[in-house]
Amino acid sequence: MSVKIDPFHAMTISKVAHDLKAAGASIIHMEFGQPSTGAPAAAIAAAHQMLDTEAMGYWQSAGLKARIAKLYADRYGVTVTPDQVQLTCGASPALVLALSSAFEPGEVIAMARPGYVAYRNTVKAMHLRAQEIPCGADVGFLLTAQALAELDPAPAGVIIASPANPTGTITPKAELQAIVKVCRERGIRIISDEIYHGLSYVEPAHSMLEFEPNAYVINSFSKYFSMAGWRLGWLISPPDRIETSNAYMSNLFLTPPSLAQHAGLVAMDETQELEGHLDTYRTNRELLLDAMPRLGLTRIAPPDGAFYIYADIGHLTNDSLRFCEQLVRDTGVCTAPGVDFDPVDGARFMRFSFAVSTAEVREALARLEPWFKDRASRGAP
Ligand SMILES: Cc1ncc(COP(=O)(O)O)c(C=O)c1O
Repeated sequence: MSVKIDPFHAMTISKVAHDLKAAGASIIHMEFGQPSTGAPAAAIAAAHQMLDTEAMGYWQSAGLKARIAKLYADRYGVTVTPDQVQLTCGASPALVLALSSAFEPGEVIAMARPGYVAYRNTVKAMHLRAQEIPCGADVGFLLTAQALAELDPAPAGVIIASPANPTGTITPKAELQAIVKVCRERGIRIISDEIYHGLSYVEPAHSMLEFEPNAYVINSFSKYFSMAGWRLGWLISPPDRIETSNAYMSNLFLTPPSLAQHAGLVAMDETQELEGHLDTYRTNRELLLDAMPRLGLTRIAPPDGAFYIYADIGHLTNDSLRFCEQLVRDTGVCTAPGVDFDPVDGARFMRFSFAVSTAEVREALARLEPWFKDRASRGAP
């Protein structure tokens, strides 16, 4: 039986933006979490060279697996063997692999609400059941150990995301340790989505592997490495699940693109260029945080990492989808409605992505300020 899953509403707003652009409007795309910069220059150069010399067959780069394993030693001081690293076409298939190789159909997977739209939809598509835990302003937009301890019965698994999407919130080390403790006691398998690692503005995010070597960890070249369209990511499987993950990977997806693997290996050492993107995001974040009170947006999630600001717009609307559509029609600034991330309270939230240039952020703010002032002057919805 096919499972019904929700559409991605930001696509609807984005389509409006693209139609407006085709009709000549000036559009600033702040709806999706994707860097506007391309892959590092050296990675692109390597790809050009590979196109001329390589046959591009099915391939899993042993060099890239070893380099990713080294990242865990260098960045977190944990040991990951290259065999544990499964190269995938981005974090999305890595999530499919983790869910399908770790759980039985019908089992319950807990996750934060608000959260990345694909968690609940992928869980449903895998014939698992999503249990959303409300993680609003009252708990600092964090999925806590206490909330997991209170679930009755215990879920089979939990998805932890730090930094999180749509909030950017980083789970502190002590909370991650407490989560691991509860999960061990209650037999809950952890999937940790670490796709926004490397993009932190307050404290570096910790890998779940520092505290739980048996966690599944997913990551990607789409964010920090600025290679979203190359479709490359990875899954770290617990040592006793490597064979199962390999079997699922080779049957469901075979391999990620060879070209992306060659380029990705080079990208991993382009630290100077990649840290330059982080400097841009840091500036953009500060500009936006400074402007939020002038937009009347004072209730926002802690934007510790990633490149998002998730703001409560409940004083202006109870329909974030229509609100974001009106905003893009009036100003050309395209944003994501909260309903994508939170089916319960998302109608009163919106998300700004600041993975654009600083010039675009400045221009967006010049358009947003008068628009939000005008909306506020019209009073509550
Ligand atoms: C939290 C999170 N996880 C996973 C993904 C999927 O990324 P990709 O498949 O491009 O690696 C995204 C994309 O925006 C995301 O925000």
